[in-house]
Amino acid sequence: MKPKVYVNRLIPEEALKKLAQSCDYRIWEGELAVPRDVLLKEIPQIDALLSLLSDKIDGPIMDAAPKLRVISNMAVGFDNIDVREATKRKIMVCNTPGVLTETTADFAFALLLAAARRVVEGERNVREGKWKTWGPMILLGHDIHHATLGIIGLGRIGAEMAKRAKGFDMRTIYSDSVRRPELEKSLGVEFKDLKTLLAESDFVTIHTPLIPETHHLIGEERFKIMKKTAILVNTARGGIVDPKALYNALHTHQIAYAALDVTEPEPIPLNDPLLTLDNILIVPHIASASIATRTKMAIIAVDNLLAGLKGERPPHIVNPEVLAG
Ligand code: DGY
Repeated sequence: MKPKVYVNRLIPEEALKKLAQSCDYRIWEGELAVPRDVLLKEIPQIDALLSLLSDKIDGPIMDAAPKLRVISNMAVGFDNIDVREATKRKIMVCNTPGVLTETTADFAFALLLAAARRVVEGERNVREGKWKTWGPMILLGHDIHHATLGIIGLGRIGAEMAKRAKGFDMRTIYSDSVRRPELEKSLGVEFKDLKTLLAESDFVTIHTPLIPETHHLIGEERFKIMKKTAILVNTARGGIVDPKALYNALHTHQIAYAALDVTEPEPIPLNDPLLTLDNILIVPHIASASIATRTKMAIIAVDNLLAGLKGERPPHIVNPEVLAG
């Protein structure tokens, strides 16, 4: 009998074909995240789950799944999964790092450029019939070239941001929990403590995972340190920025602008005060959304899942301790 798998959303076909070769799978075909009651009904039968970052996979879900051996998240981030609970139950948790690095950095840089040069406001003005003339004072933005970019978290995506910044002749500084001397040399970036980074940066871009230590890392006190002209870009996780503090910082022009691919919560409710502001650009968590990258992510998620089901070490397991003993 083939192992049983539940797939929490429609994913690229290539990945589903691969899965079908050795598993019986069922899939949630809804447009929105699989409802919890549906998942609770499906999960008792399955050996592996292919989950997404929008699915909360916690202890009670795992309690309903006595056969579950692998949770394969189609994302590099896995803050939607209670890994500690999974580890307790010897369930492997996997993710899809690497393949989305450049795609995400491309998009973070696109947000940076769009925010600095007021691309969205310009486009909106044209559609609203506000383009009356060329004007010396119209839609003045901020230069990117020779500005200082502050990268919070010089991991894979952060390092790709530094590469892109080089092409724009930016000065790049970074802060991280550890120093990265090789990258400092190869990318020409300088290490700064977070306070100094926030004080010196014209652009601050976040590339750290959401863990208890980074929850609301950028809050009221930290906004006060930033330049009044600063632009904040977040393509990591919404929870890293305190949304109330962000609203106040933007509303009082403590900082100039924010460009967000991620929010807390997601999706951002239509009545969220952030959506009343003009100095913010928000897009719906699409930084990794290129056809090629999403296909690669889905295939890696399937490969992880199949390896785990075969009793092999999945290529990207985040709790390898479950394999010991
Ligand atoms: C991830 O994989 O964690 C990204 O946020 C998806 O865009």
